[in-house]
Amino acid sequence: MSVFRNAKAKAQDALFAAAKTAIAAAPESWLPGARPDPLIHQHGLIGASISRLDGPLKVQGAARFAAEIPLEGMLYAAVLFSTIPKGRLVSIDISAAQAAPGVALVMTHLNAPRLKPLPSFMQDLRSAAQDDVPVLQDDLIRWNGQPVAVVLAETQEQANYAKSLLQPMYEALPAVTSFAAARVGGVELGNMMGPLKDVIHDAEQLLAAAPVKVDEIYSTPRHNHNALEPHAVTVVWNGDELMVHDATQKIAHTAWSLAYAFNLKEKQVRVLSPYVGGGFGGKGLWQHQLLAAAAARLARRPVRLALSREGVYRVVGGRTLTEQRVAIGAQTDGHFDALIHTGVAAMTPHNNMPEPCILGTRSLYAARAFRLEVNVARIDMLANTFMRAPGEAVGNFALECGIDELANRLGMDPIELRLLNEPEKEPTTGLPFSSRHMEKAFRDGAERFGWSRRHVTPAQHREGEWLVGVGVAAGTYSYARMPGAAARLTVTREGQATVEFAGQEMGVGTATVQAQVTAERLGLPMSKVTVKYGDSTLPGRVMAVGSQQTAAFGAAIAAAHQKLVKRLIRLAGNDSPLAGLAYDKVCGLGSGLANIDDPTRHETYEAILSRAKQEKLTVEAAAPLPLEFMHWSMHSYSAMFCEVHVNALTGEVRVTRCLGSFDCGRILNAKTAASQFRGAIIMGLGMALMEETQFDERNGRIMNPSLSEYLVPVHLDVPEIDVMWTDIPDPRAPMGAHGIGEIGMTGTAAAVANAIYNATGKRIRDLPITLDKLLIAGKALPGETPAV
Ligand code: MOS
Repeated sequence: MSVFRNAKAKAQDALFAAAKTAIAAAPESWLPGARPDPLIHQHGLIGASISRLDGPLKVQGAARFAAEIPLEGMLYAAVLFSTIPKGRLVSIDISAAQAAPGVALVMTHLNAPRLKPLPSFMQDLRSAAQDDVPVLQDDLIRWNGQPVAVVLAETQEQANYAKSLLQPMYEALPAVTSFAAARVGGVELGNMMGPLKDVIHDAEQLLAAAPVKVDEIYSTPRHNHNALEPHAVTVVWNGDELMVHDATQKIAHTAWSLAYAFNLKEKQVRVLSPYVGGGFGGKGLWQHQLLAAAAARLARRPVRLALSREGVYRVVGGRTLTEQRVAIGAQTDGHFDALIHTGVAAMTPHNNMPEPCILGTRSLYAARAFRLEVNVARIDMLANTFMRAPGEAVGNFALECGIDELANRLGMDPIELRLLNEPEKEPTTGLPFSSRHMEKAFRDGAERFGWSRRHVTPAQHREGEWLVGVGVAAGTYSYARMPGAAARLTVTREGQATVEFAGQEMGVGTATVQAQVTAERLGLPMSKVTVKYGDSTLPGRVMAVGSQQTAAFGAAIAAAHQKLVKRLIRLAGNDSPLAGLAYDKVCGLGSGLANIDDPTRHETYEAILSRAKQEKLTVEAAAPLPLEFMHWSMHSYSAMFCEVHVNALTGEVRVTRCLGSFDCGRILNAKTAASQFRGAIIMGLGMALMEETQFDERNGRIMNPSLSEYLVPVHLDVPEIDVMWTDIPDPRAPMGAHGIGEIGMTGTAAAVANAIYNATGKRIRDLPITLDKLLIAGKALPGETPAV
């Protein structure tokens, strides 16, 4: 923890020192105090509904994913996972495996190349690793499922068969594998970019004195990311140069990490990842990439390591479980006196991801007193990690159910109760909101959803054997923009442009949206813009996490564009209609540059470059430091509405209607945004009703490591999902845009739980809300026929 704090403190010092210079220079408009982003709205590309550029390649099967790269002489890998949670690998008999057909190599900790201990992301922001556990470097077992051997063979089947012949012998040590036992052992304060604790006045005292209150415990289970594409890597060494075809949302960080571990220069490693079949926070650096590179080095042949679905559960961490208390004390008119939100999450001894469930509560409501706190209990398990809306998804479930429970107790409309407690500024920091239109999101959503037609009293609306109810919840997700973004921009005499950055495309529309933004800035049609991404050798080091990739690289493209305009004006010289214009009076228009105030002063890129006798012009620029959210409270917001039908006889829940009303700044592409919102809402439905990683608390083994036993929503579980948005640009954010990748995950589970309460009068505070919980809880469902 102290290592992390020091690294963080250093990073922040550097950031603040650079901040002064940056603010003085104010190179970009979204820095505090500067004018709005000059991204001009004249070509109609911003916000347009544009299909993904990579779509045709994918439907034709022409997009090659990491496990589909064919390499000459390639070997296939199979990984053996430990079956004890903690202890030692005393011995491993590899003789039968080694003699099996097609086997080229068996790698264990005894013959694996020595690797430099890799810091985790929380210890060094350049790293892509979730924990700092050594990879096949010693005989210690740290979780049930840890890789202990890798077999390389000529075919996947041969590798799998040989793996089955390995004979490991373990010596088990006492392990902590139950949440209760871990908590008995003591909890620590969670830390994520600072301690997860906010205390304002005496919340317990105000709660005790409040005339109306709720005080409840909510629990959320472990979750695993189940991307359509399981993790895979294809690697080849060329001398001391390593080429890696990976499926990752952390391309440049992966290159840095592999270089670090193998003691190479960063430019000796190239990571390519143009297509990623979903990430959700899980596609980072885990042991498999290091194992593949180590085995390939030892075997002196290219290696493909494609994890099976079970392998993903063994090697790639998921979201940890939480137990949370939400207590709200209110006046009889609904104003909040006290807001208490505390939680305990399980975490491993080797990482620092405390599932920060209070993040949303820091900014959502005004109250006289706050007590927010996250603690962690250490369990011997695979490192838990970020999963779509880390912290906020599960924290929002508890908070927004608590608000609904309070509204019921007060006899108030839950929307009116929320709006009554809208804060004027961020209550825990005092920061002003950059752009917050929660009321509009609620009012517009309520109108479209028909909220006023609901039955206020629970369990009043019955259709045959189905009880019908509606629920609502607020959602928030923090705005972020990670440092390290850069971009290269080229325009040619033919009026073509190329934009290059080390971004990642997980199927979210990265390339498409940045093509739109680039074309809009340059005044070119999209067909003239090529986007290059998915390659660690391109400029910038930014992960696709935290709903911030678009802002991060968008800011870099803006900076590159500004540099390009300056250079072009200089190149244009005195014989140009642009002569004498300052760069901020010039915009991209009609395949060239024009004066903002008088667009007849215009010259094409072709004319400028021809006169200068230049084929093309290339510039590269870094994004300005992300300082905006130090001065402003910045979040994406939503109002989520759901309608459910609950079967009075079986307890089955069917979600029949969903509406997400979003306030996320300017929406850059209506089509990809709607897909992002819908996808996250579907994931939220899974969180509400189905998803749960079954962790055997006796031995720390995940019991349902497959999509046949880990349930996610399928088509029949998903109703028509309506989405709408305010589309009000945030002048403090690059392009006016807030992140949209995760906001749909917050609000949804609570809206479903609140709808179930409205339908049945039963309050389930433990996710997922399965039919057994509904049947057992409290009295029989209204109209339920007791089982014979
Ligand atoms: Mo997301 S959990 O930050 O990929």
